[in-house]
Amino acid sequence: MSKRVALLTGGGDCPGLNAVIRAVTRRSLDRGYEVVGVREGWRGLVEGKLQPLDDRAISGILPRGGTILGTSRTNPYKLEDGVELVLEHAESERLDALVAIGGEDTLGVASRLFEEHAFPVVGVPKTIDNDLSGTDYTFGFDTALTVATEAIDRLHTTAESHNRVMVVEVMGRHTGWIAVMSGIAGGADVILIPEQPITVEEACRDIQRRHERGKDFSIVVVSEGYELTYASGEKQQIVQAQAATDQFGHVRLGGVGDVLAREIEERTGYETRVTVLGHIQRGGTPTPRDRILATRYGLKAADLVYEGHWGTMTALRGDAIVEVPLRDAVAELKLVPPEFYEAAKTFFG
Ligand code: F6P
Repeated sequence: MSKRVALLTGGGDCPGLNAVIRAVTRRSLDRGYEVVGVREGWRGLVEGKLQPLDDRAISGILPRGGTILGTSRTNPYKLEDGVELVLEHAESERLDALVAIGGEDTLGVASRLFEEHAFPVVGVPKTIDNDLSGTDYTFGFDTALTVATEAIDRLHTTAESHNRVMVVEVMGRHTGWIAVMSGIAGGADVILIPEQPITVEEACRDIQRRHERGKDFSIVVVSEGYELTYASGEKQQIVQAQAATDQFGHVRLGGVGDVLAREIEERTGYETRVTVLGHIQRGGTPTPRDRILATRYGLKAADLVYEGHWGTMTALRGDAIVEVPLRDAVAELKLVPPEFYEAAKTFFG
């Protein structure tokens, strides 16, 4: 039986989104299904904005960053009649299935729609933050990690030439995956993450210890979600000044690197500079690893649609692509395991 399959991309854009769109579309078209793209995440289903996806639409998009469908942080549960409109448009557009590609927020909506309305949805785990439970890795993370590692490599030369402390602020929201992994890969001398916040005093001590060993420069990687933590027990989360929360209740993080750099310079007397990588980590072409993972996720999602396995998400377990319940994937954030941070700490100071 033919099906009309819709695809949407929600939340922050992420390298590999187009690779998923291409794979789901290609496999579904091969089955004789009709495929449509929903514009700008859940907003497109609230407002009924869809576009056809055919062979031509997906041609040449594999290496392209961003998403050809557009994205938004729209939460139908926060809009008046939002959920009713989603259901109405799914009905009027005769959608038999929806593939929702997103992180905890987008997939959280998908999971609720499935649980509360038996909505025929399959999820694909996307985010540079790699903070989704249920899967070993999300696609997009490898690209962000690669960008951050290259930045650390480049900052090393300036740090060394000028005898400076270079602070690098990376994204990751409330988990430190990008910070820890790029810090290990780039040989960071101190890494500060939300899960295991060392104090500002400890970070300065590590830097001083390094200088005492004759190393006149240091690289410090800090995750945007790290709360400045002091030996006194005082803690401070740095958010962007006028930031309001989004429809999922998230504050806009960013700025901790600046404050930390000032603290380090004042406390150690070493000249310090800060680099905030920001959206550069999310932009541009996906790494080969992300293209492959996104493609395998897309093919699996198309198969889950074919089998009618609603309320599931594609996931990576070891080397295998499997299905897991959407509910499990959005239940809690996947934190950096302590042993990863322990490995990184071996090289502090
Ligand atoms: O979730 C991905 C992410 O890039 C986070 O690391 C970051 O905190 C957030 O999105 C930034 O969101 P925006 O693009 O809305 O500023």
